[in-house]
Amino acid sequence: TRNFTVLAIESSADDTCAAVVTSSRQILSNVVIKQHELHEEYGGIYPPTAIHAHQRNMPFAVKRALSEANVDIIRDIDGIAVTRGPGMPGCLSVGTNAAKTLAAALNKPLVGVHHMQGHALTAIFTSESGTIKFPFLTLLISGGHTLLLLATDHHSFRILATTEDESIGRTFDKVSKLLALKWTALGPGDALEKFCAEEADEAPVEIPPITRPLIGKMQFSYSGLHSNIERFVHRAGGIENIDISTKRALARAFQEAAVKQLEEKVLLALQSCRQKGIHIQNLVVSGGVASNHYLRGRLQQCVITESANQNSPISLVFPPPYLCTDNAVMIGWASMHRFLAGDYDDYGVELQPKWSI
Ligand code: KG4
Ligand code: ZN
Repeated sequence: TRNFTVLAIESSADDTCAAVVTSSRQILSNVVIKQHELHEEYGGIYPPTAIHAHQRNMPFAVKRALSEANVDIIRDIDGIAVTRGPGMPGCLSVGTNAAKTLAAALNKPLVGVHHMQGHALTAIFTSESGTIKFPFLTLLISGGHTLLLLATDHHSFRILATTEDESIGRTFDKVSKLLALKWTALGPGDALEKFCAEEADEAPVEIPPITRPLIGKMQFSYSGLHSNIERFVHRAGGIENIDISTKRALARAFQEAAVKQLEEKVLLALQSCRQKGIHIQNLVVSGGVASNHYLRGRLQQCVITESANQNSPISLVFPPPYLCTDNAVMIGWASMHRFLAGDYDDYGVELQPKWSI
């Protein structure tokens, strides 16, 4: 049988994305139009600006995805996939309207995809066939989510831990902004990581004790960490009064504490699975924050420890960084099992800004 070829569209946050992928794991095109420079001044995503940019960019993202894949939408595209949610309603509506209208007009099947399932399932497609087996653990760490999930099949996920306040990604963003770091092309979180990794400092500096909330509980919390840094900067009378070594020590203490929480919950989850006889062979880590190298090193330590405890290997899997940030490839792949099963959505399918996984 011929490959099933999907045109996928994603616009849940601030990137306008379109891609063409196939059922045999090919990426024929992957267009991501970023708009971070539009939001830099605001220090987060400003919805009216994001919606406006999606409206401007979406037609060109779709056109480019088709031409870079060298496909004809009428002849070569078998189905259209789109992110239904969760996300900002106005942003989601740009992508869903485009996808629904194209699908209805061209009489192609339509599948609405859960954005986080896209992140969670990506590794199945990027790893060698058969290496990722259900059940597996997934850590979804991005600007929108801080989730530890147990994936039992393509559409069943159990939430083991989530954040009770801010997401880890937003916290990286806010702390990066508090420390007045210049955004890199990959955003404020990446800027913070790079700043931490720059040359070692001569003398150790005094920084405030950093909160370690919810030890032993299957829950994350990041707002306390953020306010630790905020208070310190405030007491100093502003970031301009803090020297570079102190600033770097603060950034490092923050990054270490933020990652420590992930390590702790991952170990708790692995131990609990082991006690219940659920045999986990993979820990898949995805979402924008997964590109952080310090975090990767720490989680590697966790799986080494737990592999020894359970006496069988657990492998740590990271989809390639360009597929860890928002993209439409993951949406196309996450739609595939539904297209292949003939399980389509109605052309009138509604967006789901708040959609539990
Ligand atoms: O998955 P993603 O691109 O978008 C959604 O939130 O859906 O994740 C973006 C988040 C941002 O908060 C960004 O600052 C963070 O991922 N991020 C990082 C790094 N690269 C991106 N956080 C920490 N270290 C990084 N290297
Ligand atoms: Zn995302």
